[in-house]
Amino acid sequence: MMEHFMKCINCGEKHDSDEIVYVCTKCGDLLEIQFDYNEVSKKLDESEWLKRPLNVWRYRELLPINPHSNIISLNEGGTSLQICTRLGKHLNLNHIYVKNEGENPTGSFKDRGMTVGVSKAVELGSKNVGCASTGNTSASLAAYSAKAGIRAIVFIPSGKIALGKLTQAMVHGAKIVQINGNFDDALRTMINFAKSNPKIYLLNSINPYRLEGQKTIAYELYHQLGCGIPSTIILPVGNAGNISAIWKGFVELKKLGLIKNLPRMVGIQAENASPITAAFKLKKKEVTPFSHPETVASAIRIGFPVSWKKALNAVYSSGGLMETVSDIEILEAQKLLARTEGIFVEPASAASIAGLKKIYNLNLINADETVICVTTGHGLKDPDVVISNYEQPLELDLKKELLSQILV
Ligand code: F0G
Repeated sequence: MMEHFMKCINCGEKHDSDEIVYVCTKCGDLLEIQFDYNEVSKKLDESEWLKRPLNVWRYRELLPINPHSNIISLNEGGTSLQICTRLGKHLNLNHIYVKNEGENPTGSFKDRGMTVGVSKAVELGSKNVGCASTGNTSASLAAYSAKAGIRAIVFIPSGKIALGKLTQAMVHGAKIVQINGNFDDALRTMINFAKSNPKIYLLNSINPYRLEGQKTIAYELYHQLGCGIPSTIILPVGNAGNISAIWKGFVELKKLGLIKNLPRMVGIQAENASPITAAFKLKKKEVTPFSHPETVASAIRIGFPVSWKKALNAVYSSGGLMETVSDIEILEAQKLLARTEGIFVEPASAASIAGLKKIYNLNLINADETVICVTTGHGLKDPDVVISNYEQPLELDLKKELLSQILV
């Protein structure tokens, strides 16, 4: 690890790495981890990276954890980059890849952030960590806290939580608190709770350490493409941490002189939970929250994304865009990916495929571009959506001839 500090994205105020702060103490805006990139560049030996296994910690020089600290890892990252020929043919696109984050230990990209976030908690001596979550963050925090031997406290929204995710938080022993409100209410409550209780270390993506782990998606893509970059990256956007993190990863590769160009960042939101897309379409620099976000993709059912400013910056600076997709488009895309490529993703992740289809139809992408869709979470996280929307199993009459009943 190189020296690093936290810097405010608005006023530039610096905060020491051992300070427990989540937003700028001067102006209240978001913080970002900064390294001395000239220093890193001088010391970095890329061939050394390539000798290490592909995973989050391959890039430890650019992760803000003391190498002598106890790193809490479940072997996260190193997810496969699947070339999707059949899906591409279906959509008339020639170079489509899926970065399948469902392959992570708890089945979502959140593990990349949690290995860094929980390691930081341990480094700081915290015994209690907390987050608000639509499901995946809580599942991941619960698992990494179990590995670290510390307590996880998770706030979840009211109503039904995706079954797989809730099950994970329960089995790993998190203290689960259901808030009488939606995710935005749960997050506001958790942030205030952590601010007034220094014993709780907050591990939502407002904490810039989380995003440091997640930026490794960019580094891995660079290596998986033979030290190249894609033309466009498409991913679902909820609280807007991941799009911000991946963009930061690419910007850092450029600062280190490893790449010359940057990819376009394309963020996809569900129609009725799309405050960042609404701002983008009006070319605005501010976001107006959605007070009643709703979508089948419960992971991204978020009305006031905490990292909206970083996300808009990623999209505007990369020449990218934000788009929305409907619930029907999301469910169709989930089925299409599962049935053309054998990849089962949860609805939020399918939003990236639905978004790809939509922006191609809007002529915002050309058939020969290299496009990466980041599928953020495994399909088994949310089995109810499939069971209630798909054809049910056949009931056979064993007295009748079987083949004719099956092949109808
Ligand atoms: N995809 C999945 C599967 C997610 O779980 C999330 C976020 C996103 C996409 C959006 O990522 O928030 O960084 O823009 N899930 C959070 C959670 C909110 O609590 O698990 P983002």
